[in-house]
Amino acid sequence: MPLAQEDLAGFTAHVRKAMFDGARTHRWPDNFTNLWPNITPEYRFQHTLHVLKFVEMLQREDGGDLEVLQTSAIFHDVSHFSCHYDVHGRVSAEMARTYLVERGLDSTFVDRVYQTIDDHASDKPPSYYLTDAPVESIILIEADLADKLGPNGVVTHLLLSGYNRRLWQATNEALERFVIGRGERALSSGKIRWTPAGRRLIEERLAWVRRFLGEIREDIACVF
Ligand SMILES: [Fe+2]
Ligand SMILES: [Fe+2]
Repeated sequence: MPLAQEDLAGFTAHVRKAMFDGARTHRWPDNFTNLWPNITPEYRFQHTLHVLKFVEMLQREDGGDLEVLQTSAIFHDVSHFSCHYDVHGRVSAEMARTYLVERGLDSTFVDRVYQTIDDHASDKPPSYYLTDAPVESIILIEADLADKLGPNGVVTHLLLSGYNRRLWQATNEALERFVIGRGERALSSGKIRWTPAGRRLIEERLAWVRRFLGEIREDIACVF
């Protein structure tokens, strides 16, 4: 189903507006309040653009429907400032469907986008992600994870450490646990059939973080 560049630009502008409008009134649960910058619309919108870039990159090698992937990436976190985090996959899928149906997009296309977005954050069992999930769902999950690793994951956690007044040792532990640990746990979980390009991208970004931390540890050996 041919989408024009203007369509994608319109989707992106709509998502950006929904995030910034939602953030004005959204209240996070208390245990989320130490998660700046992750809870700002600036961060979440930038993350959205990164995920879009990664799905386009992965689709070239792993296949899948490019337009379903692009649209799903743009809308996948649109509800971040409209609902509780635990249900944001389903709510984002619903917000995307409402917007796309209003614009007269083909119902099969809209259903595929809905499923892809819902799958990126749902409690479906591993058997679904190992065998039944469409390749677009797997690619979106890979792209979403990839952005939390690599240079962006490190910079986000360094900013977060500053915000929470963490010093070297605590920062080191946070990078180990939330960046390296997160990627390693995902890759070894056995709960999803990674695509070849997706696994490689995640491993490359993990390797970058390990190299970065290795150099920091050499430089600050007394504390790291
Ligand atoms: Fe998400
Ligand atoms: Fe995301």
